[in-house]
Amino acid sequence: MAILEREEWYDLTRTTNWTTKFVTEEEFYPDEMSGHRGIPAEAWETYDEPYKVTYPEYVATQREKDAGVYSVKAALERDAFVDRADPGWVSTMIAHYGAIALAEYAASIAEAKMARFAKAPGNRNMAVFGMMDENRHGQIQLFYPHANVKRNRQWDWAHKAYHTNEWAAIAARSFFDDIMMTRDAVATSIMLTFAFETGFTNMQFLGLAADAAEAGDHTFSNLISSIQTDESRHAQQGAPSLKILIANGKKEEAQNLIDTAIWRAWKLFTALTGPILDYYTPLESRKESFKEFMLEWIVAQFERQLLDLGLDKPWYWDQFISDLDETHHGMHLGIWFWRPTVWWDPAAGVTPNEREWLEEKYPGWNNTWGECWDVIVDNLQNGKPELTGPETLPTICNMCQLPIVGTPGQGWNVKDHQLEHNGRLYHFGSEVDMKIFQMDPERYQNHMSFIDRFLAGEIQPMDLGGGLKYMGLSPGEMGDDAHGYSWLEAYSTKKSDDAA
Ligand SMILES: [Fe+2]
Ligand SMILES: [Fe+2]
Repeated sequence: MAILEREEWYDLTRTTNWTTKFVTEEEFYPDEMSGHRGIPAEAWETYDEPYKVTYPEYVATQREKDAGVYSVKAALERDAFVDRADPGWVSTMIAHYGAIALAEYAASIAEAKMARFAKAPGNRNMAVFGMMDENRHGQIQLFYPHANVKRNRQWDWAHKAYHTNEWAAIAARSFFDDIMMTRDAVATSIMLTFAFETGFTNMQFLGLAADAAEAGDHTFSNLISSIQTDESRHAQQGAPSLKILIANGKKEEAQNLIDTAIWRAWKLFTALTGPILDYYTPLESRKESFKEFMLEWIVAQFERQLLDLGLDKPWYWDQFISDLDETHHGMHLGIWFWRPTVWWDPAAGVTPNEREWLEEKYPGWNNTWGECWDVIVDNLQNGKPELTGPETLPTICNMCQLPIVGTPGQGWNVKDHQLEHNGRLYHFGSEVDMKIFQMDPERYQNHMSFIDRFLAGEIQPMDLGGGLKYMGLSPGEMGDDAHGYSWLEAYSTKKSDDAA
């Protein structure tokens, strides 16, 4: 029997739209779920996915991938790298798993929505594979940290984080719910796969994999690069949707979806990936700075892809480029200062050598962020650690759910953008966060930030202890300085060097 080449039957076999008899087409594909936006089925049938794969090919490849990573894990298990790894690197992994593992499971549901409701057969087909991809990512990123739960309870947050009201978990949940859990299939393909996965997961998975390899953590490096090979395939679902929207007069709406998703992803990454790449990762293992990765993966990638598709750069692009030098330094300082409120131990990452690196990568760092750290170092050296920890709560943005930060020093630029809407006062960390809210207030208006909940009396008692309890952080889970403040020694040596 002659076997046909894939390209001879692929298009035909995934041409699976049919005329419904028992229900209307609208009942079968309600706009609310499918997001067809009144564009006829024939237009959706022109959807042409750039990456074509069949089920047998998919299964064979995935089996090989899994066999590869699980055997590397098994082979290196006795090596117990995690026991001799730099504590900053351990924190990187604990923060990563907590923020990512369950979001992968959620992504599986987002893919399932496209697999069922996308009106484009090609999108449905690809999303079936995407759904299985995300299920694999969820499972594997729970399995790996599970082996370390016996070492430290923070590892358990790989599973726990999204089930809590810990503030960073609220921020991550708010973002992922917005771009993938509460949107129609077409918007999901654009916000999740095009805007988020094309660039940002590259950052988290390839950026971190590069640093992991440098740090000698081959288990983690292998794991996350294996995941990224799936991401780079299923991330290609958004561009064909965009082409159809643009061709059918929906460019503005497409642009808004992209602008919103990129900004919200950026903000989340300033709290997660920024501190990891520029502060937690041991200096000698840093491949590139967060800003350099951003310029490579987001700025260069998106500018080119957006313009190629006939879209524009997001309206806030200039501000975004200048924020690459600033926002994540403020997030890092805040997270280290409020360290009991996170499920990992933040590494300060500000020894004199590290500061030299920061100054080189971010000219002016010493005169701005450095001055804040000088005060912290002084307090620690003078036996006043209580001055380096939280007593109050920061103002939190009602869009990104992250603290409102600015650049300290001469040009102190922190600003709380306030908006009164339906009798409630909202706070935003930037003009962009506020505009996103204003474009779709119904979507966002009822969400309570951590501070809103505090002021509403939901958090009792109204002090740090009550806050920690509300966030689900028990002793042994709440963060402290990753290196147990041993990095201060570098300052004492420096002082005596200077005196000599
Ligand atoms: Fe994934
Ligand atoms: Fe994904």
